[in-house]
Amino acid sequence: MSNLKKVVVGKESKEKLEKFFTWVYKNEIVNDISHIPNGDLVQIKDQNGGFLGIGYCNSNSEITIRVLSFYDENITDDFIDERIKKAILKRESLQACTNAYRLIHSEADLLPGLIVDYYNGYLGVQLNTLGIEKYRKVILDSLVKYLNPKGIYDKSEARVRKIEGLETTNEIIYGEVAQNIDIVENGIQFSMSLIEGQKTGFYLDQRKNRQIVSQYIKSGDEMLDVFCNAGGFGLYGLEKGADVHFVDISPNAISQVTHNIQLNNKEAKVTKQDAFDFMTNEITTSNLYNVIILDPPPFAKTKKESFGAIKGMKFLLTNGLKILKEDGIVALFSCSHHIGINELLEIALEASKNSKKMVEVLEILRADSDHPYILNIPNSNYLNGIVLKA
Ligand SMILES: C[S@@+](CC[C@H](N)C(=O)[O-])C[C@H]1O[C@@H](n2cnc3c(N)ncnc32)[C@H](O)[C@@H]1O
Repeated sequence: MSNLKKVVVGKESKEKLEKFFTWVYKNEIVNDISHIPNGDLVQIKDQNGGFLGIGYCNSNSEITIRVLSFYDENITDDFIDERIKKAILKRESLQACTNAYRLIHSEADLLPGLIVDYYNGYLGVQLNTLGIEKYRKVILDSLVKYLNPKGIYDKSEARVRKIEGLETTNEIIYGEVAQNIDIVENGIQFSMSLIEGQKTGFYLDQRKNRQIVSQYIKSGDEMLDVFCNAGGFGLYGLEKGADVHFVDISPNAISQVTHNIQLNNKEAKVTKQDAFDFMTNEITTSNLYNVIILDPPPFAKTKKESFGAIKGMKFLLTNGLKILKEDGIVALFSCSHHIGINELLEIALEASKNSKKMVEVLEILRADSDHPYILNIPNSNYLNGIVLKA
């Protein structure tokens, strides 16, 4: 595509692109790009004129270029259609255990800015960048062609689109979308809402981890699911015959989990409270648990916020270990790539000291396969977890 405008990058960016990193930051561009309209495709070159990739450009964003291809090829509607088809085929094996999964995960499927989730015949889509917005028609046509969905809901992120200079309307953009959608994951029923739910609707990325953790749960166990959202982990516990106590601060999450408990014909205790207050109070009661899940939201959205986030997680895990029965297990997750597996293990070591309990690491966990971890894109390794026994 030699007719494209050229963006020249410095040595550091060249090295990153040669290792298939998909972003070029504004301060890595060495030529004047003020004449390039935002959203246009560009050819990325090194300072000697060597080809590095093709991406779309938006100088409103610090991430000024997002790469679509590392090869000199035509980025046509057919190209986008092929990428979508490939991403859909990649998820086919998940159909054996669920009817809800992420179909397209942005950079990790080489479709930067595009997220598509499948929920039992319905799709939730996010077109979060100007560059991908330009392909809206082909994206929707391909999704309809390959999946024949009952409806598509636009859940694009207003905050990110604003940076890109785009307005956002969350609405039904194809067919009809039910207010509540029933999904089944490993035989467990969940009701979720594309229209009301947090994030893109449901925490699909924890699917594999919910199953791994459930292998450690025994009938009659006392289980605490803190930051429970729709009750993912705790519902697996109820299925295993555990007594589960769910805790979340969000009224929406509380009504979802309450509904999901009924949907599975189970009973459980549900508390709407701040998790930090809850974990402080639990220390003063004599409640002890066999299984504790601590799955907080991303406390550290930036590197700067890591310090406070680590402090908060140490507090949660220390208290978790203190209220754990002998040989109980506690799972701690971080869904911010600023707090990865090494940080989680450091947090665990400090919490071990603070709670005066030696811990065994049973599992090191990451997101399920529909949220691929691409080695070349460090941010794609954003969800990490540990399961400890003490
Ligand atoms: C990552 S989600 C949990 C996902 C859940 N474990 C699952 O598998 O579906 C984090 C949850 O923490 C809740 N939350 C955020 N801040 C909280 C706080 N201070 N106290 C309690 N819950 C909180 C959010 O409402 C959200 O439901």
